[in-house]
Amino acid sequence: MNAGWRSIRRALRWCRNCQLTVATNERCSCPTPNDHVPVLIADALIGPQVQIGPFVHLYGCTVGEGTRVGAFVEMQRGVTVGPRCKIGSHSFLCTGVEIGDGVFVGHGVMFCNDRRPRAVRKDGTPIGTEDWMLEPVRVGHRASIGSGAIILPGISIGADAVVGAGAVVAKDVPSSTTVTGVPAREKAKP
Ligand SMILES: CC(C)(COP(=O)(O)OP(=O)(O)OC[C@H]1O[C@@H](n2cnc3c(N)ncnc32)[C@H](O)[C@@H]1OP(=O)(O)O)[C@@H](O)C(=O)NCCC(=O)NCCS
Ligand SMILES: [Zn+2]
Repeated sequence: MNAGWRSIRRALRWCRNCQLTVATNERCSCPTPNDHVPVLIADALIGPQVQIGPFVHLYGCTVGEGTRVGAFVEMQRGVTVGPRCKIGSHSFLCTGVEIGDGVFVGHGVMFCNDRRPRAVRKDGTPIGTEDWMLEPVRVGHRASIGSGAIILPGISIGADAVVGAGAVVAKDVPSSTTVTGVPAREKAKP
């Protein structure tokens, strides 16, 4: 590892065979455990019966009872996910995201919290946390977000709403409404 790099984490493992996530000092339910892949959880509040897939990275977030989290999902500090949700593989939930109960998030859904992101200031120095404003995103109970959707900063998605696959959501979505497209618009009722 290069000088200056630090790795601070509590490594967990996911068993390909019984599909349980266990701490490094625990055993999964297989008689002879092998074939484990990493899961990283640090400083997160995880409810009972939460299922966590391989290569997941959760830090400083809260995940409610019975929620299923797919492979390669990342949840940043301060994220809250309610109970009985399903978060599809490869989705990214950034700081400021609040997800209600029973919400479906498809694969590769990207949440955003910085409307005009920059890497550096005008003088070329790196942007710090004080240089941008976080805009939280809220998703109501039982809403469903299709795979590949992008949810822009500050958006609220109402309860029971549906966001189509690949939509770019730039305006709030009212409850029980279906939106699709780029930018996402209410889908005409048949
Ligand atoms: C939005 C959605 C719920 C609509 O389903 P539906 O009501 O059965 O809609 P239909 O398939 O009858 O399509 C109706 C019209 O909307 C269009 N459409 C459907 N989904 C769309 C989408 N995501 N983006 C853009 N247009 C879409 C169809 O092409 C069709 O257009 P047309 O009327 O011009 O022919 C669904 O298509 C969708 O995107 N589901 C998410 C799937 C997903 O991501 N699953 C994740 C885990 S596998
Ligand atoms: Zn096992």
